[in-house]
Amino acid sequence: MASVLLLQLLLVSLASARQHFGGSVTVRVKYKNPDGSFRVEVRNKATFDSCQGSYTNFCWQNCGLTSTWVSGTIDSSTNASQSNTQWCQIETVDTRNVPSDKHFQLRYLGCCWIPTRHGLKNDWRLQTSLDLGSRSDTGKPNRSPDIDILPFLRVPENCPRTYELMSFDPDGDRVRCRYGNIPNVECSSCHQPSGFTLDQDSCTLHYNQSTANPRVYGFELVVEDFPQRNITLGYTDGSRSSSTPLVVRSKRHATHTTPTPPLSKLPLQFSFLVDPAAPSCEEGLYLPEFLPPTPLNGARLHAEVDREVEIRVRARASHATIHDIIISGPLNITKQRSTHGEFVIRWTPLQHDLGEFFPICFAVEAETGSGVYQSEMRCVLVEVRRVSVNSHVICTESTMRVEVEKSSFHGLHEDHLRLNDGANIACRLRSNSTYVFADIPLSGCGTELEEDGDYLRPVVSVWDRGFGRFTYQFEFYPNDQYQAMVDPASYPVVYDIGSRIYMQIEATSSVNNTVLFVESCRASPYDNQNSQQTYSIIENGCKVDPTVQIHSPSHPRQFRSSMKAFKFIGMFDQVYISCTVLMCAAGEPNTRSSQGCISSKTPATWPHNHQRRKREVAVESARHFVSQGPLHLKRSAESSESSALHLNLNLVFIAGCLLAAVGMISAVVLYQARMSKVKYQPLSTEER
Ligand SMILES: *[C@@H]1O[C@H](CO)[C@@H](O)[C@H](O)[C@H]1NC(C)=O
Ligand SMILES: *[C@@H]1O[C@H](CO)[C@@H](O)[C@H](O)[C@H]1NC(C)=O
Ligand SMILES: *[C@@H]1O[C@H](CO)[C@@H](O)[C@H](O)[C@H]1NC(C)=O
Ligand SMILES: *[C@@H]1O[C@H](CO)[C@@H](O)[C@H](O)[C@H]1NC(C)=O
Ligand SMILES: *[C@@H]1O[C@H](CO)[C@@H](O)[C@H](O)[C@H]1NC(C)=O
Ligand SMILES: *[C@@H]1O[C@H](CO)[C@@H](O)[C@H](O)[C@H]1NC(C)=O
Repeated sequence: MASVLLLQLLLVSLASARQHFGGSVTVRVKYKNPDGSFRVEVRNKATFDSCQGSYTNFCWQNCGLTSTWVSGTIDSSTNASQSNTQWCQIETVDTRNVPSDKHFQLRYLGCCWIPTRHGLKNDWRLQTSLDLGSRSDTGKPNRSPDIDILPFLRVPENCPRTYELMSFDPDGDRVRCRYGNIPNVECSSCHQPSGFTLDQDSCTLHYNQSTANPRVYGFELVVEDFPQRNITLGYTDGSRSSSTPLVVRSKRHATHTTPTPPLSKLPLQFSFLVDPAAPSCEEGLYLPEFLPPTPLNGARLHAEVDREVEIRVRARASHATIHDIIISGPLNITKQRSTHGEFVIRWTPLQHDLGEFFPICFAVEAETGSGVYQSEMRCVLVEVRRVSVNSHVICTESTMRVEVEKSSFHGLHEDHLRLNDGANIACRLRSNSTYVFADIPLSGCGTELEEDGDYLRPVVSVWDRGFGRFTYQFEFYPNDQYQAMVDPASYPVVYDIGSRIYMQIEATSSVNNTVLFVESCRASPYDNQNSQQTYSIIENGCKVDPTVQIHSPSHPRQFRSSMKAFKFIGMFDQVYISCTVLMCAAGEPNTRSSQGCISSKTPATWPHNHQRRKREVAVESARHFVSQGPLHLKRSAESSESSALHLNLNLVFIAGCLLAAVGMISAVVLYQARMSKVKYQPLSTEER
């Protein structure tokens, strides 16, 4: 007892002043070491007001020493303008060697909880315990439940909501969730939030009613598991213990029973913010509503070692702007927004994750001028299995060849495999004695197109010394009014022979008194600045194509021009237009902008060996490369149907090879197509 007190005193002095938003701990026994000790993996998720720093854990009982230790950020708060709180969730994977398979007990602690509205004391505690003995029912070491939650939940005060907490147990045990009730061990001061009800047996938290408050409620829950029938646990020292199911007795007898001890106790802590009332609680208006293919809450997903799992999340909010997704999951999980506004969560299990289960939780946030609206939370469970299907994907410019080794899919008959468009004879799978295979056209058999946010950006944003942050936008317009731009969703833009193409490049700058200068523009069949086949439209600031017209801009950071379509698009199947642009200080002599057209006998090899004086600080920016397309010329013989197919194959970046990772032969075949968005590359030849 004395030593415990001493430790606690010590802690107060060690504790950092970082603010705690919540955390959880799970423990997994990995294997028995040759020396008889056990390798245990402790995963601690902790959320603080910053991503920096570390904190302390204390071994309470049989938790050995750390062997390896890795840590990384899982996710951090969205920066919606209305977010008043900054948080960052970190996961630490602490691999320890513990001396025996007896009871394991570890405690993480520190100061301080973020200020809560129901007066939690400053210190926080994450107390974890688990019986590591071998179970009579599974023959394996006991496993703890798999738990997870988003560290920061929020809901408008007028919108009751239900959260089903992830409470899966890999041993099939009965899992219960309760409020911590031992002060300074399971909870700080153990004050429970009001306005909520917690159904302990189903681990369901209902938000019923509260009032908005800028301070959060801090939840300090404990998740426990109990066997479904009597079991014994055996230990390497030959001893045994028994564990009995939890008997829920009627209230009348409750006082006469001694509580059944759980097999494990895990902490689950999080912050909950009650926001001002939403104009409506209907999902899909302000509160985002999940749409397919978002997995359902509680869905079980299968993953394979070294193959990326991908979770697609789509949401809608007609009266608010979908802003971000927040996630919680295993270390090295990533999130990304695709150009269709879908979110993609990705994670690749490693060999040592085989056989384990990992929860992943997510919610989408939308914002309006006055509020942030979080969707319901969904959690899925990823089970890491052995690689089950051996497949190869071979990508060519126009097709994907998928080959699947027959011997690797047991219990599945090849007649039951098909592509999305299985009815089409041309899309049938073929086979020989060892493989099932198909040559899948990129534009048929149910192939779906997907753009990837890594390669495509709607608006180019750059930063330049002296010019601050500015963005370029490059769009096509139907006429010289430059009002409604051509919808990027309709790309490739199809032009009739002889019609005019109206384009506009616009820069927005945080610094006034700047002008945009377009030095050169070219058409080429690829949106790549190193393309060999190009057609000059503007060169050195001079019109080269005879049909080019410059239109008056509405401000100096805009450039508008047009040209006739047939002159160049016809040279290629389709083209992109790429321009080299820069920003100059307005009214300064000797800037590239003030010089305008510089005609030259020797055509510059665009844009690299363009002669330039050393750039003076803050008078002109570096040159930037922006491109947009593709444009496509309508040929008289062509039906509108086939023009869609001309979304051309040599422009397609095939990520079909990702397919191998996904291992999906039967279902949706994905690849990525480059389409329609502005592309930006800094020019490498410019001095910084
Ligand atoms: C936060 O917002 C700013 C401007 O709105 C943006 O530049 C920045 O990338 C955002 N950060 C994150 C992490 O989204
Ligand atoms: C929710 O709050 C209302 C108003 O206080 C109360 O009448 C109702 O019983 C509460 N429901 C639950 C399930 O607590
Ligand atoms: C389980 O164990 C308890 C206590 O050891 C005992 O009272 C009970 O009868 C056992 N139940 C069964 C089904 O064996
Ligand atoms: C996360 O990724 C890093 C770098 O790729 C790797 O070293 C580490 O082992 C990974 N950790 C986990 C737990 O997956
Ligand atoms: C079966 O098809 C696969 C994939 O096309 C090929 O690699 C293999 O050589 C073929 N085997 C036989 C026996 O034809
Ligand atoms: C830039 O100009 C606009 C309008 O002329 C003005 O509203 C704004 O405050 C100026 N910004 C700076 C940073 O000078």
